This record gives sequence, structure tokens and C-alpha cells, in this order.
Amino acid sequence: MAEIVREGNLFHLRNEQISYILCVMPENVLAHVYFGRRLSRLNPDPVLRHAGSGDTYYFTTQECGLDRLPQEYPSFGLGDQREGALRVENADGSSAVDLRFVSAVIEEGKPGLEGLPATLGSGAQTLLITLKDRQTNLQVELLYTVFDDCAAIARSAKIINAGLADVKITGAMSLSVDLPDSRWDLITLNGAWARERNVYRRPLMPGFQGTATQCGASSLQQSPFLALARPETTEAQGEAIGAALVYSGNFKAQAAVYQNDAARLTLGINDTDFAWLLPSGEAFQTPEAVLVYSREGLGGMSRHFHRLWENHLLPRKWVHAHRPVLLNSWEAAYFDFDEEKLVSIAQSAANAGVELFVMDDGWFGHRDDDTTSLGDWQVDKKKLPGGLGRLSDRVRALGLQFGIWMEPEMVSPDSDLYRAHPDWAIHIPGRTPITGRHQLTLDLSRKDVQDFVFRSVADTLKASKAAYLKWDMNRNFSNIGSAALPPEQQKELPHRYILGLYAVMEKLVKAFPDVLFEGCASGGGRFDPGMLYYVPQFWCSDNTDALCRCRIQYGTSLFLPASTMGSHLSAVPNHQTGRIAPIETRFAVALGGCFGYELDPRKLTEEEQAALQGQVKFAQETESTRLHGHQYRLLSPFAGNETAWITVSKDQKEAVFTYVKAQAEANTAPALVKLQGLNPENRYRIMETNEVYSGDELMYSGLLCKAGMGDTASLLYTLKAVEA
Ligand code: GLA
Repeated sequence: MAEIVREGNLFHLRNEQISYILCVMPENVLAHVYFGRRLSRLNPDPVLRHAGSGDTYYFTTQECGLDRLPQEYPSFGLGDQREGALRVENADGSSAVDLRFVSAVIEEGKPGLEGLPATLGSGAQTLLITLKDRQTNLQVELLYTVFDDCAAIARSAKIINAGLADVKITGAMSLSVDLPDSRWDLITLNGAWARERNVYRRPLMPGFQGTATQCGASSLQQSPFLALARPETTEAQGEAIGAALVYSGNFKAQAAVYQNDAARLTLGINDTDFAWLLPSGEAFQTPEAVLVYSREGLGGMSRHFHRLWENHLLPRKWVHAHRPVLLNSWEAAYFDFDEEKLVSIAQSAANAGVELFVMDDGWFGHRDDDTTSLGDWQVDKKKLPGGLGRLSDRVRALGLQFGIWMEPEMVSPDSDLYRAHPDWAIHIPGRTPITGRHQLTLDLSRKDVQDFVFRSVADTLKASKAAYLKWDMNRNFSNIGSAALPPEQQKELPHRYILGLYAVMEKLVKAFPDVLFEGCASGGGRFDPGMLYYVPQFWCSDNTDALCRCRIQYGTSLFLPASTMGSHLSAVPNHQTGRIAPIETRFAVALGGCFGYELDPRKLTEEEQAALQGQVKFAQETESTRLHGHQYRLLSPFAGNETAWITVSKDQKEAVFTYVKAQAEANTAPALVKLQGLNPENRYRIMETNEVYSGDELMYSGLLCKAGMGDTASLLYTLKAVEA
């Protein structure tokens, strides 16, 4: 059970697994004294003495003790030389903020954040702490939530200008945590297009380390996530702290090591090139950040994240709803299609039992390639003479649902929209627009643009009777300027853009509650908890190669669950790598997320076509375990030649196990892979081999994995508990 108790000058947030403790110090400075495994109580003196190097721990701001004090929401300019959580420009030009504790309120439940995605739900307690700078009357409201069911704390800050003069915020983090030591490894997820979310692990060092974006999106290259793991922490054992930002724009995730080897973790909107004018009487809300704590290694950390998002963030209606097995037309046809071809592909998908046919890019304007027509969301009558309605009717007559692709945030210079509204694109007047994939970004900070985007999507959904929308976004910001903002507010544009995007998404998902939205950004370029508040699934990567996907899905799973990853079986040779992996391996790996096809089924061999029906059925039957079971990563593709993972149903009665061996080797012993998450006392039948083993032997001795001959061989096993 989650509870927040006030014990003297301490606020103790806890549930069965974790404790998070704040301390109001003399002179009302707010200190951070603990985050970790649940405590019954804490005497904060040892922590404070440790920070103050032994003898003195009575920190007064007069004595500048702030430079060592572990703090909850540090600021710069009054004694703390470290990088703070809040930086402003006061009316007098100074940056100093002196935040002192004023009051605290404890409430049941978890409030949402205005205009921003955030965790929600009952079974939680929330602490609201108000801090204030008495000289300028700048207030900060710190919000903390502890949940019944997850080892997680949600945090955010609201900056309120209760003074008379305008203030400029130049940095406002969502989270800052001071840890007493730096004996941690830092783990981040970094990559590139078609290589998203590779796992990087290195020891913390004095100075700054972390990851950040300033391209307008959480991006293909970075993820708004970091983890700290003890050097000895493995997948299954040891301490780990994970932090993630519920946000889709520019972010900074940083760990800094200072004197005394203390570490400061910060996470929030990137303060590089960020400024926000805060007139008297107004407030600025930071996005929400979450912290999870695990004693069961990185695997435990991931499962805490997965449970938190599934129980408190993902759209309620969709999180556990059946995700239709889909076929997407992109790698099947690219821009080269017409109504007859699409219907014929759909027919062949329907024969295999596929449930949803998605028409990807190329159906509007005169878009025969990627140089044109974004923004002109009128159907191309040359390709689809009967319009969206007739195509949708014909597809639906085959027993399939119909889905459609849009890239609503974009405009092609060659479009009627751009010719009519050049000012709607993000640009700096006087400078030549810089295109990316031949397109410009619409300025979603503007209300008129938000309304246009909403209307375009709503009209398209209605005209196509679509049950699914793939919402794509294929370029990052450049020439960052808005025709609608005055010079002193130009640095607000990236955040205002994200607020505009969220406002449109919020309105759309409310207006079309029965439409399944899938996010996409050149693959996984904005695959973050912020977007997942609106869309339950995201196209994980444009790379559909099975081996590459092992790495991408493994990295993604560090903080996002399988139920959020769009994952499709595609043709060989693979379109991104040229690799020819057996269909069994492509299938096994694509089952690691929301399963679908990204190919023209008419081009498969007869044997492969015949296999599709069985695949669809298998995907459907195992869906609940694969997408919502507890996931255990067993062998890392970043560490060697093999990848393995298992998802175990919550009642431990069923599990799906996947093993992939990248390169074939001669004369090697087959792997003995130790499974995890099973009930040691259960006996499990491996349905594919009919062998029966007990849970303990599978976990403590191992499962023998003898994959077939050739590269990219794999095993896909379903385990079912049987009567003893
Ligand atoms: C992006 C997406 C792809 C596809 C194309 C269409 O690259 O990631 O899945 O939709 O756009 O242009």
C-alpha cells in the first residue's frame, strides 16, 4: 500500500518496495535524504553528516553549506556551485533563486498535469510541497506520487510567478536527485535511424555525462531515459535506478559527479536554447518524470517501468484490448499502388486470417514519391478513383478492418497548403527554408495550425471509416522560428510545439475513441512515454531485419513494454540490410511486439503462404502472454552471438520463449539457457517438443537450445503448466 507520512521534519513516501524521503532542514531548506529499498524509518543525520564530510551537517545558507547538501530542487546562485534544477533571469538580471519550504499537502490519488501527459489512477498518494523565494515571490510546487503497485515515484514541478515583475525561466528540470555516492554505471539508449536504442553502459566519472536532444523530438538518436546500475548489477540481480521523462520533445538526462563523489541525477526539458517568459501571475508546468528502483537487476527495473506504464499511463481503453494482426502496405508496395493492387494484397492477407489492412504513404495529393503533397490530404483519384470510401468498403467487405497512414505535422513545399500558408511552417523569416526528406514542419505552437491538423485527421478518419491510424513524423526541426511568436519568446517554440501536439492528440483520441492510433517517427524517433499516453503502440523501427530487431527491441524493452512496440514480419532479402533470415526467425522476433506483416503476401512461396494462417493464429493465442506478461531478458545481443527472452503470464501458467543465434558455428555445444520468472514448483510442457520439465530445472539448470543449421536460426517455444 502506498503511503506518505510526515515524521517530524521528514516526509516519507513509501510502499511495500521503496522509500523516498525528504527532509526540511533548519532555515527551511528542502533536502533529499533517501531513495531506495523500503525503510521502516530513517534518522537523516548519518546521510547529512556524510554529505557534509563528517563533523558538520548543520547546513545554513549563510555558511554556503548548500554546495554539499543533497537537495530536492536545487537552484543556482546562492551557494550551490553544482548544476541546479531551476535557473531563471530575475527582473534585476540576476539568476539567484532561494527556495525555502512553505507548506505541504498530502492527497489521495494521482492528479493529471494540465496540457501534458502524465501517470494517473487510484491506488496512489500524492505530496504537494510548496517552496518560495521570499525576495521575488517565485514559488515552486513540487508534486510527488507513490503508487501501490509499482516501485516508482512520479515527480514534476510547477513554477509560479507570484511576484510583480516578469521572470524568464532558463531551465526547469522535472527531477533532480542527489545520491550519496557515485559507484554506479550509467546506462543510456542511443542510436540512429534504423538502429534505435542500442544499450550503452559506462561507469560514472567526475563531471557530466548523459544524453540530450535539441532536434524537437525525443529522437531516433536518444531516449528520454537513463539508468544507474551498480557495477556488479546484472539483468537478474543487484541495485538499479531508472529514470524516464513523460515527454516527447527536447530533453536532457544527466548524471553529474561532484566533490565527495556524490552524484546528481537530473531529467527534464533540455535547457539549451530554452527560455520561457513567465509574466506575473502565470505558471509553468514541467513534464512529469518517473523514478523506479529495483533490487532485481535491470530486468526488475524494466518490469517496474512496464507495470507503471501499463497500469498508469497507457490509454485505458487500449492497453489490454486485442491488437489486431495487421498488414501494412509500405514495404509491400511503397508509393506504387492503385485500388486494385491494394485490394488484391488485402484479399491475400484476409486469406491468411490477418485482421487489419493498413494503407501507408502515397494515397493523397500527387504523392508518387516523398518530394510532394504533405498537407494536401485529399485522395489521389488517379490511384484511388473511388476515393477512400470505396477502397475502405472493399477492404472491409473482405472481413478486414481498414487503417490509414498520415503525417499530419508536415508540409511539402510543393503543396497547396504551403502555397496558401507559407507562414505555417517553422522557419526564420529571411532565411532559406531547410527541408528534410523534402518537407517542412508545421508550426504546431499556433492554434490555427493545430485546428487544421485536427480537421485534416478527423476528415480523413471519417472519409476512410478507418479503425486505425498510423501517425507518422519524419523530420526534425531546423530554422527554428515561429511567425506567431515575438522575438523574446522564440525560445519557447520547441516546448510550445509539443504542447500543441499533445492538445491535438488529446482532442483526437477523445473524438475517435474506437480508432487504434499507432505512433511512428521514421520508425522509433519519438517512441517515448509522452506519446504513449495517447497512442498505445509505436512503430519501433523502420528496420525490420530480424537480427537488428533483436537489438532494437532488447534496448527498447529496458523501459517500454512489448505491448507498445509495433513489430512486423517482412520479406527477404530484407529491405534495410539485404539479409536473408528464415521465415521462422522473422516470425519469432516480430512476435516480440504488436505483431503484423510488412510485405506483399502474394509474393511469398506457396509453402510460406500456407504458414501465414498458423502464424496469425499463434500470434493471437499467445498475445496476452507476449504483450502483457512479465518479460525477462536472458541473453543480450549486445554481449554475444545469441539473444533470448521469455515472457511469462502473470499467473505463471504460460510462457513464450524466444532464442536467436546470429551466426552459425561448427562443433559448438548448444546453449543451456537459464530461464527466469517461472514458478519453480510448476511443471511445464514445451508445446513444440512435447518435453516436460519442472520450473526449477528450467531456471536453475537451464533449457537446452539447439537451433537449426545456418545463420539466424531460432527457437520459439510455448511453455504451458501441466498437472504434476
Ligand atoms: C516513414 C515510416 C515508414 C513509412 C514511411 C512512409 O519512414 O517510418 O514506416 O510509413 O515513412 O513514407
